[in-house]
Amino acid sequence: MLDINKIRKDFPILQRKVNGKPLVYFDNAATSQTPQQVIDVIVDYYSNYNANIHRGVHTLSQEATDKYEAARNTIQKHFNAKHSYEIILTAGTTESINLVASGFASILKKEDEIIVSALEHHSNIVPWQMLCEKTGAILKVIPMNQEGELEMDSYTELLSDKTKLVFVNHISNALGTINPIELIIEQAHNVGAAVLIDGAQACPHVKPDVQALDVDFYVTSAHKICGPTGVGMLYGKEEWLTKLPPYQGGGEMIDQVSFEKTTYAGLPHKFEAGTPNICGGIAFGAALDYMNAIGFDKIANYENELLAYGTKRLLEIEGLKIYGTSKNKTSVISFNLQGIHPYDVGTLLDKMGIAVRTGHHCAQPIMTFYNIPGTVRASFAFYNTKEEIDALIEGVKKAKMMLS
Ligand code: ALA
Repeated sequence: MLDINKIRKDFPILQRKVNGKPLVYFDNAATSQTPQQVIDVIVDYYSNYNANIHRGVHTLSQEATDKYEAARNTIQKHFNAKHSYEIILTAGTTESINLVASGFASILKKEDEIIVSALEHHSNIVPWQMLCEKTGAILKVIPMNQEGELEMDSYTELLSDKTKLVFVNHISNALGTINPIELIIEQAHNVGAAVLIDGAQACPHVKPDVQALDVDFYVTSAHKICGPTGVGMLYGKEEWLTKLPPYQGGGEMIDQVSFEKTTYAGLPHKFEAGTPNICGGIAFGAALDYMNAIGFDKIANYENELLAYGTKRLLEIEGLKIYGTSKNKTSVISFNLQGIHPYDVGTLLDKMGIAVRTGHHCAQPIMTFYNIPGTVRASFAFYNTKEEIDALIEGVKKAKMMLS
């Protein structure tokens, strides 16, 4: 059992009021909140050892380098990567995906095929479309069904020896569906295709094991996992990271530079040009330590309870429809009230101190599939409570009354 009252005390922001009401924070899929333990690490960095890394012989630089590399090791262990140099620290999921897409521009040929799913966030659609424009490769899409699940038979049919890459999110940000990534990876490998899994929405809820998954690339952002914004990671198998060309040129990513020729540094530095988000990287490690100390099994069990309770209570409201009804889903509930625009519901909820996301959630193809402009999305984290869900239910009822 989680001691929720104790956990909530770790998050200073949860004590604040919004519009005179206690904050109910249900926008965790957009960004999670930050515990004091991680805030302290950030303050400590800027108070005591702020310096550039991998460059100086002076004490501060060495301390910062040691902590940054220790964070990389923490991330490696968390995801069970074989080597710490297979963890590339980036600005976040979007940059990680663009790094891989940019690298494949020199590998893909005209008529090669790449597969994405109908459940993707724009960040796992647009970079691949740009890659197709550059290379002449063809983008294919795994369709979805009314429950918000992928049509796996269609996926099998799409795969062929022309398929070079498959990109799927582990969990849908808009609907919460958990995709069968083990099967997706296995089937892609059977035709010789590489797989990138977007784990931005999965990592707050589960602890992926990249070796057990045998995945080629796995990407995520720290700010979904109680860490800061502007930092994330790309895990890549050594053989792939060695094969891909650098993403950006600059300091730190080189071995030797002359005007005639430059040779590149080894992994991971080849992909880490310029001064990185040093404090962010260190805080990313601290955030994983914080969540692991609580335990991902306990987090997932509790969030499933919140999901079941929230779903049941929301469905008691007449005219409310939930989008994304897969049995395999995380604590994300996307819904609409009949005849009422999601934006209006979200605005009224904010007046009651309740933070939800409204709109297309950067997943317009999903909204097009359901023929809706967007949804209201309530996404729960392990520091939320059933009492907060009760406040949401009252808020939605009030909004319905005011807007009908
Ligand atoms: N991708 C984030 C979300 O789903 C921003 O809200």
